[in-house]
Amino acid sequence: MMDWTDRHCRVFHRQLTRHALLYTEMVTAEAVLYGPRDRLLGFDAVEHPLALQLGGSDPVKLAEAAAIGADYGYDEINLNVGCPSDRVQEGRFGACLMAEPELVARCVAAMQARVRVPVTVKCRIGIDDQDSEADFERFVTTVAGAGCTRFMVHARKAWLSGLSPKENREVPPLDYGRVHRLKAAHPQLTIVLNGGIGTLEAGLPHLDHLDGIALGRAAYQTPYLLAEVDGRVFGDAGPAPERAAALEALIPYAEQHLARGGRLNNIVRHVLGLYHGRPRARAFRRFLSENAPREGAGIDVLKMAIEIAEGRVSTRDAAA
Ligand SMILES: Cc1cc2nc3c(=O)[nH]c(=O)nc-3n(C[C@H](O)[C@H](O)[C@H](O)COP(=O)(O)O)c2cc1C
Repeated sequence: MMDWTDRHCRVFHRQLTRHALLYTEMVTAEAVLYGPRDRLLGFDAVEHPLALQLGGSDPVKLAEAAAIGADYGYDEINLNVGCPSDRVQEGRFGACLMAEPELVARCVAAMQARVRVPVTVKCRIGIDDQDSEADFERFVTTVAGAGCTRFMVHARKAWLSGLSPKENREVPPLDYGRVHRLKAAHPQLTIVLNGGIGTLEAGLPHLDHLDGIALGRAAYQTPYLLAEVDGRVFGDAGPAPERAAALEALIPYAEQHLARGGRLNNIVRHVLGLYHGRPRARAFRRFLSENAPREGAGIDVLKMAIEIAEGRVSTRDAAA
């Protein structure tokens, strides 16, 4: 998720689930081709399985960017046909491409011709006045005709003019039924449902009919829900990781980051919601928010936050 997630966030999430597929934020094909490539695409081996999400609409550039992504070792290349931001529309990519299924199909075909990993598509159920079930069906069958077998569908339409990106994630109503009917009509396609799933409990029933669920905001804001994914979705019998253990596992990674001149807050800003709903959640969040951004903040800040959250040290003792 642009401006929210990054490689450090994914390393943290990976301490909570070994099996869930993680996605990068959208990176444009142009940025991959002409930008600071290692900074945009570099990741830690622990992040696997990991998908790179690309934005663009030029089949040649997308194919080249996909090939570069595959060389970096990504397990899947995903094309964004769901982002409604103005910035994105000017570049003619994101959700506005739902109006051009043939172009999306050409992009997918060109990308697939260059990589062995799956090329998948993230889309909406419609845009503007092209929002009928028949429009959606035509989009999916056209793109599937180019060889895409996996679709992640954000189950609401996007209004490309008039609504902000944030409103486009909240205002148009969710229509899970449309995604379920898509799967029923195309059982051979892998269909993953996205949008408005706030808890694992809410998401699990969809798995009786669909192939997957994708969580955006909830995974970021209440990350501990990821701790139950391996057991409840993937049937992994091991115990769910404890919150403190997930943070302790992050310490060596954070130490390496600091040793390379990175800032503690680059990493710990992603963990603030870990204790959401727990007794000392607020103290944990406040201690980290106040101390991790400070110049020179070291690993002791993270260690102390764990002590506070686990009730072993009070915030008053921590301040002393
Ligand atoms: C800050 C922010 C950035 C986002 N960036 C992306 C992105 O880069 N690529 C993408 O496919 N979706 C992006 N999204 C949309 C989410 O992936 C997701 O489709 C949407 O929030 C609905 O799912 P949710 O209700 O589980 O959050 C972003 C959402 C937010 C809140």
